Amino acid sequence: MKLHEIPRYPLTFGPSPVHHLKRLTEHLGGAQVWAKREDVNSGLAFGGNKVRKLEYIVPDILASGADTLVSIGGYQSNHTRQVAAVAAHLGLKCRLVQEKWVPWDDPTNDKVGNILLSRMMGADSRLDPSGFDIGIRDSWKEALAEVEASGGKPYPIPAGASEHPLGGVGFANWAFELAEQEKALGVTFDTIIVCTVTGSSHAGMIAGFAALEDITGVRRRVLGIDASATLDQTRDQVDRIARHTAEVIELGRDLRDDEITVLEGWAGELYGLPVESTMEAMRLGAQLEAMITDPVYEGKSLAGLIDLVKSGEISKNSHVLYTHLGGQPAINAYHRLWDPA
Ligand SMILES: Cc1ncc(COP(=O)(O)O)c(C=O)c1O
Repeated sequence: MKLHEIPRYPLTFGPSPVHHLKRLTEHLGGAQVWAKREDVNSGLAFGGNKVRKLEYIVPDILASGADTLVSIGGYQSNHTRQVAAVAAHLGLKCRLVQEKWVPWDDPTNDKVGNILLSRMMGADSRLDPSGFDIGIRDSWKEALAEVEASGGKPYPIPAGASEHPLGGVGFANWAFELAEQEKALGVTFDTIIVCTVTGSSHAGMIAGFAALEDITGVRRRVLGIDASATLDQTRDQVDRIARHTAEVIELGRDLRDDEITVLEGWAGELYGLPVESTMEAMRLGAQLEAMITDPVYEGKSLAGLIDLVKSGEISKNSHVLYTHLGGQPAINAYHRLWDPA
């Protein structure tokens, strides 16, 4: 099916806002920096990138007759919070596996922010001591089996909705949405920056921009900034999901290797733990633009953008778009980073 023929169940307000980051641009003294804001894309529990992916998964959920969404993430997973939100919105039950993906020993880590919101929305959110892994997990399979054993009909949504066959479609469509906004604004972004971990936000964009390039001839760089710190696994997942999504939207050609770029250098040693460049980026975003980013994902991709502009890798005459994928509720579990003491 062509992209516009794939069923979409609206969960967003419409196109997410695109705006110029004037003070950050002045501070960096280089490329014109803009942002597209998935952190304010929906009224469902603060929205975020998963809401976009789920817009293309909901028709399949409804067709399946499932009564329970079953998904997985870390304690402070934004993804599971958005699954809980969509379950509440659709009147379905929600069973979440929350693994200890981050060795962040704040006593509030499994109580505030995303996990609190999921519980408020009625999700059955249970903790599991397993560590970080973006792949398919036994704990998630066990949760699916439990729902079935208790007479429910589960609908499986893997981590980040990335390994779902339609996981990349939401962000393929995002590329077309951006192209319309560019026309209205009179700007063309030559470089797109996006945080990548489970891969389907970035992978979907790659497929979408490839389709756009084939129509318009405009070639751009879509740079994924790794925040997983398990680079090989994320690269592999982005590659696989991008190629799969290209088939789903009937791109009609193979993706070129130069269309798939995941950059390392800003994830630090471990997923979920900020490093100095993350802190500096979060500070700059907040203090120059009141644009709030989190230490797990968006602070790391913003750090990547800042360094690439400073080093000239993104040139002075470039128009670069920072994709803000959401994730602010997690900052509550990281209050220690900003404690005045
Ligand atoms: C706020 C935020 N940014 C970035 C990402 C990475 O997106 P993806 O998992 O599609 O690579 C996620 C989820 O993993 C997220 O919640």
